[in-house]
Amino acid sequence: MIYPILLVVHNTLRWLVFGSLLASLGGSYWGWVKNSTYRPFDQTLRVVATSLAHTQLLVGFYLYAKSPIVSYYWKFSPDASQSPEFRFFALIHISLMIVSVVIMTIGSSKAKRQRLAQQKFKTTALYFTISLLLILVAIPWPFSPLAARPWLRSF
Ligand code: HEM
Repeated sequence: MIYPILLVVHNTLRWLVFGSLLASLGGSYWGWVKNSTYRPFDQTLRVVATSLAHTQLLVGFYLYAKSPIVSYYWKFSPDASQSPEFRFFALIHISLMIVSVVIMTIGSSKAKRQRLAQQKFKTTALYFTISLLLILVAIPWPFSPLAARPWLRSF
């Protein structure tokens, strides 16, 4: 069955998205503050973070189509919408994550077109910060009151 595999992949990919986003963000703030030159490595970090987020989006759509929680929600809505956890995955998680990845993509392509290193660092820093904040809110952390999921999953 594909569902448990998707869950493991989606869970693990979260750490890669999170880590690459933090790395690109750290590099951008550092470059912005220190007035550094924009190195190919900065571009690689930005592109890798955005690509991982796109991959996570695709896995997320697949998971959405296979999730028993989501299908239960749509089958028994509006009754099922009483459950905060079902509503979280069917509506809130998907919406916030799509908005977050769109903001990241716009920031990345805007930075790509800019010529000055300072502009590139600033654009990446600002867009990726908004994206990170949305991701932080939308991830079902084990301590989240909306929906709690494990830090890691294994097969
Ligand atoms: C950067 C984007 C995203 C991140 C970081 C992320 C992260 C996560 C994490 C950590 C989980 C918990 C996995 C587990 O239970 O082990 C999860 C669950 C889920 N995600 Fe995402 N997600 C993202 C985008 C999306 C998108 C765009 C969709 C839908 C199109 C989506 C659909 C789902 C669904 C349906 C579940 C729950 C599945 C279930 O328990 O049946 N995710 N997500």
